[in-house]
Amino acid sequence: MRVLVVGGGAREHALVRAIVRSPLVSETVALPGNAGIAREVRCIGGRVDDVPAVVDVALRERIDLVVVGPEAPLVAGLVDALAAAGIRAFGPPRAGAELEGSKAFCKRFMKRHGIPTAPFEVFDDADAAERHVRALGRPLVVKADGLAAGKGVVVASDVDEACAAIDAMMRARVFGDAGARVVIEERVHGQEISFHAICDGERFVPLAAAQDHKRIFDGDRGPNTGGMGAYSPPTVVTDAVHARIVREVIAPTARGLAADGIPFRGVLFAGLMLDGDTLNVLEFNVRFGDPETAVLMARLDTDIVPLLDGAARGALPTAALPVVASPAIAVVIAAAGYPGAVRTGDPISGLEEAAAVPGVSVLHAGTAKKDEVLVSSGGRVLCVTALGSDLDDAAERAYRAVDAIALPGSQHRRDIGASGRRRQTPRPASS
Ligand code: AMP
Ligand code: GLY
Repeated sequence: MRVLVVGGGAREHALVRAIVRSPLVSETVALPGNAGIAREVRCIGGRVDDVPAVVDVALRERIDLVVVGPEAPLVAGLVDALAAAGIRAFGPPRAGAELEGSKAFCKRFMKRHGIPTAPFEVFDDADAAERHVRALGRPLVVKADGLAAGKGVVVASDVDEACAAIDAMMRARVFGDAGARVVIEERVHGQEISFHAICDGERFVPLAAAQDHKRIFDGDRGPNTGGMGAYSPPTVVTDAVHARIVREVIAPTARGLAADGIPFRGVLFAGLMLDGDTLNVLEFNVRFGDPETAVLMARLDTDIVPLLDGAARGALPTAALPVVASPAIAVVIAAAGYPGAVRTGDPISGLEEAAAVPGVSVLHAGTAKKDEVLVSSGGRVLCVTALGSDLDDAAERAYRAVDAIALPGSQHRRDIGASGRRRQTPRPASS
């Protein structure tokens, strides 16, 4: 089988590493990939959201299976265009990608199908949105409807902050058309959990739970990012909680998509808030998480290709997935300036020493080769992943590897997984 991986982050590097190990695959190519992916497979230049160009590459390369990493090409209809060209793809069609591409669509879908989520209203008019916020008179969350690079959510601490967010999104259009419509929802509290399931349009198979660290600084301070690190499994997700997430979130979502006539063959990634025994879905993504994929692939103890290809064919093998007992941690090394304007072109060294730490694998994200030197080329540059006998051991290995890497001006969090290490006794359910 010939496989094309679309994307160029640490998520795609982790997927490429898993795919090339499969005896079912004769060649893997990536578009556009990055300097680390280029060490393992052939990379072809191009923009992931240039749908006709990606389809041309897939045809020219006689690709049997396209694995789509990021959301933008899914929302742009890449999977629909590949299907029209007779090429199988892992990823939902445009109609399914709306779950991530439109928060209003997602919230209405959840309400219609009885999936637990915070109460909300949708507004197309800024004055009406402000009146609603002032009438309720309590802290609310304001979300731009469309894709806003993870920045379109304001968890407002008072009414004025919520109104300022409405003004910025709907009148000043700081996120362009993505902010023409907003969702205003009740604030919920608790532990955030990332939960992935692979779906084939009918059946699904859950992966292990993970926890992301979205803020740039230690202690969950500073601005939101795409994700500064992750670990799996989170202590709060006991077997009972895992089963409950499958029963109350994943199963009704897969059923709802099928009932709505959407052949969802890809990853359903629920962003959850868990507070004691209260479970709420904050959002759905329609692709693998980044950095979650680093820890999920580290722990997945089976060939991923039958899962990806089975889902794409609508014939997913649904046996429970073997997962290694060892926990995994991924620490992101980001460029100077991230998540604002980033500096690129800085030299990267120490990767061999880092990769030599037992249990560690160093995934590339924003890296490029310039005059034979490895340099930074994006906001998140590397993702250092480690398996360990327990979370402390995994963290010790990951940080030993991180400390071996030199990148001028780089930033990383020192507390990835610390919340999981502290919470050894989950709060008992009250029922
Ligand atoms: P989202 O893109 O919808 O996941 O929102 C981004 C981040 O905003 C989430 O990771 C949460 O930390 C926070 N958030 C979103 N919705 C809520 C909510 N209803 N209550 C509290 N925090 C939220
Ligand atoms: N790490 C969160 C995401 O991939 O959206």
